[in-house]
Order: sequence, then C-alpha cells, then structure tokens
Amino acid sequence: MFSLRRTNVQVVLVKVLYSRASGTSSRLRAMIWTILLIVQGILILFILVSKRSRSEKEPPLDKGVIPWLGHALEFGRDASKFLTRMKVKHGDIFTVRVAGRYVTVLLDPSSYDAVIEDSVSLDFTRYAQVLMDRIFSLRLPHHNPAVEKAMMKQHFEGESLSCLSSTMHCHLQSLLLQACHNQTDWNTDGLFSFCYSLLFRAGYLTHFEGEQKSNRTDPIAVYAEYRKFDNLLTKMARTMLKPEEKRTAHSVRVRLWDLLAPAGLGKGSGSSTWLRCYRHLLQEEGADEETQRRALLLQLWATQGNVGPAAFWLLGFLLTNPEAMRAVKKEFSKISGQDSAQCPLLDRLQHTPVFDSALEETLRLSAAPFITREVVQAKTLHMADGQEYKLRSGDRVCLFPFISPQMDPEIHQEPQRFKYDRFLNQEGSVKKDFFKGGRRLKYYTMPWGAGTNGCVGKRFAISSIRQFVYLVLSHLELELCDPEAQMPEVNSSRYGFGMLQPEGDLAIRYKPRRSH
Ligand code: HEM
Ligand SMILES: *[C@@H]1O[C@H](CO)[C@@H](O)[C@H](O)[C@H]1NC(C)=O
Ligand SMILES: *[C@@H]1O[C@H](CO)[C@@H](O)[C@H](O)[C@H]1NC(C)=O
Ligand SMILES: *[C@@H]1O[C@H](CO)[C@@H](O)[C@H](O)[C@H]1NC(C)=O
Repeated sequence: MFSLRRTNVQVVLVKVLYSRASGTSSRLRAMIWTILLIVQGILILFILVSKRSRSEKEPPLDKGVIPWLGHALEFGRDASKFLTRMKVKHGDIFTVRVAGRYVTVLLDPSSYDAVIEDSVSLDFTRYAQVLMDRIFSLRLPHHNPAVEKAMMKQHFEGESLSCLSSTMHCHLQSLLLQACHNQTDWNTDGLFSFCYSLLFRAGYLTHFEGEQKSNRTDPIAVYAEYRKFDNLLTKMARTMLKPEEKRTAHSVRVRLWDLLAPAGLGKGSGSSTWLRCYRHLLQEEGADEETQRRALLLQLWATQGNVGPAAFWLLGFLLTNPEAMRAVKKEFSKISGQDSAQCPLLDRLQHTPVFDSALEETLRLSAAPFITREVVQAKTLHMADGQEYKLRSGDRVCLFPFISPQMDPEIHQEPQRFKYDRFLNQEGSVKKDFFKGGRRLKYYTMPWGAGTNGCVGKRFAISSIRQFVYLVLSHLELELCDPEAQMPEVNSSRYGFGMLQPEGDLAIRYKPRRSH
C-alpha cells in the first residue's frame, strides 16, 4: 500500500518535471529532485527505524505493511474483526504494530490472570494517563489512584449504595412519568436515544446536581453536549480527529466543563456525597479549579457512559425475543405481586435470577473493553498451556475478552445468538461452569474488567438497569414499530471503549399503561 503511494509521488513529480522541462529553469528542476531525494530519505529512515524482528521466545510478530502506522487503520476501523483475523493467523498470543507502538495481544482467558495480577512488571496508570490527556485534556498533578479508588468503593457499597439506588429510583420514576405525561396516544422514538437519555439524566441528577433550584443546569442540555462529546471520543483516543472535528471537540468540552463547574461544591450543590468527597480530594491534592472541572467530565463519562447503552441492548434483545420478554415479565410480576412496597426491586436481596441471566447475556454480547497494560520491565509470560513468552519493556499488553471468552464458540455455543437463560442452570440457579480446552474458566464473561481496575460501580449499575427495565415494563406499553424488526448492527469503531453502541437505532413506540 505504501510502496504504491511512493510510486505515485514519483510519477507526479516526474510528470511535473518533464511537462515543464522546456520552460522551467534548472533551479526548479534541482528543487524538485531535492524534494524527491528527501522523500526517499524519509522512507529509508522509516524502514530502518522499524527494523524490529521477532526474537526467540517472543510472541509472533506482525508489523503490517505500512511503516510506523502498522495495523493502526484496520485496528481503528474494526478492532474485533482485525484481532479475530490475527488470532486465526497466529493463535492466542501475538504482537502487532499500531501507530509506532508494539502491542502484544493475549486472547486466552485461562492465561489472563498472568497479566491482571502482575502490577510489578505491568503498569496500568501510564496508558490511562495518556488517554486521560487525549480525551479529557486532563493531567492530575499529585494524584493517587489507590486513594481515589478506596474512596469510591466506600461510596458504592452497603448503606451508601442503598441510598444512591433509591435516589436513582426517584429520578427514573419522575423522568418516566414526565416522558409520557398526559399522553393517551403512542409516542415514537429510537430505543437507543430513549434509554440513553433517560438513564443519563437520572444518573446525572443522582450524582452531579440533584436538588431543585431556580437556576440549576438543565440535564437535557448536559446530555445533548455529552452525546456530541461521546461521538468524538474514540477519535480523540486515537488522535485521529480531522481539523474540523478538533474544533468541535474543543468547544464541546469547554461547554461541558462550564456546565459541570458547580457540581460537588458543598451541600447546596445537590451532588452525591461521593462527588463532594471526590472534589474535596482533588482540592487537597492541589488541583486548580480548571483541572477539577476536567476531572468531573472524566467522572461523568465513567459513571454515565455505559449504563444507557447497556439498557438499550437489554430492552432491544427482550423486544426481539418474545420468549425472553415473557420470562422476565413473569419474574417481575411475581415480585410485584408479593410485595406492596413502592419499588420492591430497591431491595438488593430481592433475587431476580432470570433478569440477571438476561443482563449477563446482554453484556456478553455488547461489552467490549480493552484491558491494557504497559510493560515497565521485561517479563516472561506463563500461559496456562505451559508455553512461555518474553515481553519487552516499553511494549503494551492488551486483553480483549470480547473475542474470548465472550464470543468464543468453544465456550458459548452459538455465540452470536441472544439466549436469555445462558447463565441459568436447569433448576434455575446461576450457572457458573463454563469450559475451554477441558479447563473450567474463572473468566467466562468480563464486561466489568477485572482485578484492581475492575468497575467500582458494578453493583450500582446493575441495580440502576434492573430498576429501569422494571419501571419501563410496568409503567409503559412498549413495542417495536415494526414487529419484524431486527437489532441494528454494532458501530464497529467503538470496540475497546466499554459498551458498544448501535449503528442507527431501533424504532419503538410507547404510551402509559392504563391499568397501572
Ligand atoms: C453497564 C454499565 C457499566 C459497565 C459495563 C462498566 C464497565 C467498566 C469497566 C470495564 C471498567 C474498567 C476500565 C478499565 O479497565 O480501565 C470500569 C471502570 C469504572 N467504572 Fe464502570 N461500568 C459500568 C457502569 C458504571 C457505573 C454506573 C459507575 C458509577 C456510578 C461506574 C464507575 C466506574 C469507575 C469509577 C471506574 C474506574 C475505576 C478505576 O479508576 O479503576 N461504572 N467500568
Ligand atoms: C395536559 O392535558 C391538559 C388538559 O387536557 C392540557 O391543558 C395540558 O396542556 C396538557 N399538558 C401537556 C404537557 O401536554
Ligand atoms: C444562579 O446562578 C448564578 C451564577 O450563574 C449564581 O451566582 C447564583 O447564586 C445562582 N442562584 C441560585 C439560587 O442558585
Ligand atoms: C460510530 O461511532 C463513531 C464514534 O463514536 C461516531 O463518530 C459515528 O458517527 C458512529 N456512526 C454511526 C453510523 O452511528
């Protein structure tokens, strides 16, 4: 591909040279030859710089044909397709060149712990900081991730979690009632925007700015700006913004920073105790006002970016799989029948195994984060099958659980199909036994990441989605506009960034349920 481009450059230059040969001065001719030589020189330099070859005991090396860039373009277009192709070619471990960096990809879930549990040779924070800077323009000066993590955990567990869940419930309920206030006729919408908008606004009100005030920020405005930001996020992470998009990205971020500025400042802000503690922590670390706002956008993304899309996939799969919908509704109706409380699902101990399995199955099909580490000292990676591979310092290691375990046909039969009861045993208990190569797997699905960098908000996220689906199914009559409609395709540029999003949307219509 690149050699093709090089000959094009030569052809063009030679054409210019000869078409003008008679009329042009020898000075111009010399200049063009100089340019040509410089182009050739840069090419040779590229080839020399990228001379790396595979050494003994290293994973198979695949540099791609384009100097420096390597496989970056194919990787960015559809990482899942690209890595699947590499897996077929090289096996469960290989090293690819991506935009100047060498990334070793590991796709054997039985060996994942060798990466996840090593925090000495493998570093999590460096690459996280690179992304933080690219996406949020954020550099935290004296930041201690361990302290932040411990603080967050405290606010998303036990008593605090119950508190958060009930606040979330209030906001969800009032937003839902608002959505179909006074309405007797069908309302049409896309399922993705319906779910994302509702859950984002409820989550925003829960964490960032919940109190009724005369001039509080309108959550709809925050959502609208956030969606623009979200659409540019993967390109920011890959530094592939076009100049026009760069300007948009900048102005959208500035608006979001302004909108978030009051969040977490004192009790009057109506923010959750978690956010107020977080802001306090930033102040103690010496982060200035501007940095604090940028950090708030990071937290908005971490807490609101995944729940809406997850709820979309779940409701979408239920609407397109009537048997699954019936099973979930039956489970919910049993619960609301036995208890007259306002929302029986607020009780975390309320078991909903059918719903849990349907959600787990949804996330298996639609959660696709990368787990990335930087190799800070050379390491020998011991695979579960006894093989050993050397990793070079300065390279990156990347796990992609979406390909395996989640979509691995050896672990999950017919992995492309939604089977709501995949994670249920015959007698209705949670199924945890899954195998690959005769080995029982610790990781048979990994939507929440793993180890110390796993999702802190997991239980809150599950509780929010469960409440949302319950409220939607009990308050609304909800159906597909086209009863034969299928789920939309996945937007293939988002692999590696958490929850996937659809390309296009699924048209639905809804109205309030009469007999509520
Ligand atoms: C379906 C919904 C969600 C999914 C699939 C999800 C998934 C993940 C994953 C995979 C990570 C690890 C990222 C990494 O390795 O760097 C993560 C981190 C995180 N999640 Fe979630 N998440 C969800 C919802 C939430 C919610 C609702 C909250 C909080 C309200 C939350 C808070 C966080 C935070 C704070 C981190 C960063 C942890 C750290 O600093 O290491 N997440 N999430
Ligand atoms: C609700 O219905 C009442 C009476 O029919 C009407 O006056 C009012 O404008 C409606 N509100 C909305 C938001 O549609
Ligand atoms: C309204 O916003 C302004 C700044 O935009 C602020 O000075 C004022 O205190 C706010 N009023 C209330 C009641 O929150
Ligand atoms: C796919 O996702 C990218 C990045 O989020 C976004 O810019 C693009 O508009 C999306 N494409 C479609 C068709 O939704």
